[in-house]
Amino acid sequence: MSTNSSTGDDINFHTRKWIKPEDLNPNGSLFGGSLLRWIDEEAAIYAIVQLGNYNVVTKFISEISFEASARQGDLVEMGLIAIRFGRTSITLRAVVRNMITRRTILTIDKLVFVNIGEDGRPTPHGYDSITYKRDRMPTEHPQTGTITLP
Ligand SMILES: CC(C)(COP(=O)(O)OP(=O)(O)OC[C@H]1O[C@@H](n2cnc3c(N)ncnc32)[C@H](O)[C@@H]1OP(=O)(O)O)[C@@H](O)C(=O)NCCC(=O)NCCS
Repeated sequence: MSTNSSTGDDINFHTRKWIKPEDLNPNGSLFGGSLLRWIDEEAAIYAIVQLGNYNVVTKFISEISFEASARQGDLVEMGLIAIRFGRTSITLRAVVRNMITRRTILTIDKLVFVNIGEDGRPTPHGYDSITYKRDRMPTEHPQTGTITLP
């Protein structure tokens, strides 16, 4: 099996979110479901960039630890890193933190995405390490198949 691992200490924070009224629970603090939706989307895009395939699906999300909350107006940042490349899967670690206080809001030790082939079944992706470039990105549009010009 082709695998590679990282401790996740070298996590990079890319996407930032501004906590708005629609992201709050009835108590006025950040709704966990909003956060999970953002993380799942962010992680799926990360997996697409790493595996060069639009067709990746969330297979498994490990225990989620909500460590602190956030309020309306706070700025939060989401960090992801690949910690394991399997044969058909990729495993990510996620951290969300408050940009002002630097407090960790959430950690997820494992999010597993599976690389899906044209037959709808898991298919080997052939990668064993992280790319920090866009060199694996498909050049066709995922639905129309139109070639994207550089
Ligand atoms: C993804 C799916 C096609 C995988 O089918 P499957 O029969 O479990 O496939 P496999 O047993 O071959 O496993 C595929 C990979 O997932 C990994 N995997 C399977 N179950 C796992 C689990 N519980 N935890 C972690 N990894 C798991 C396997 O180790 C394998 O990875 P590897 O090839 O790198 O070793 C199928 O489960 C599915 O369609 N699930 C629904 C996905 C979905 O709709 N997600 C939410 C919306 S995007």
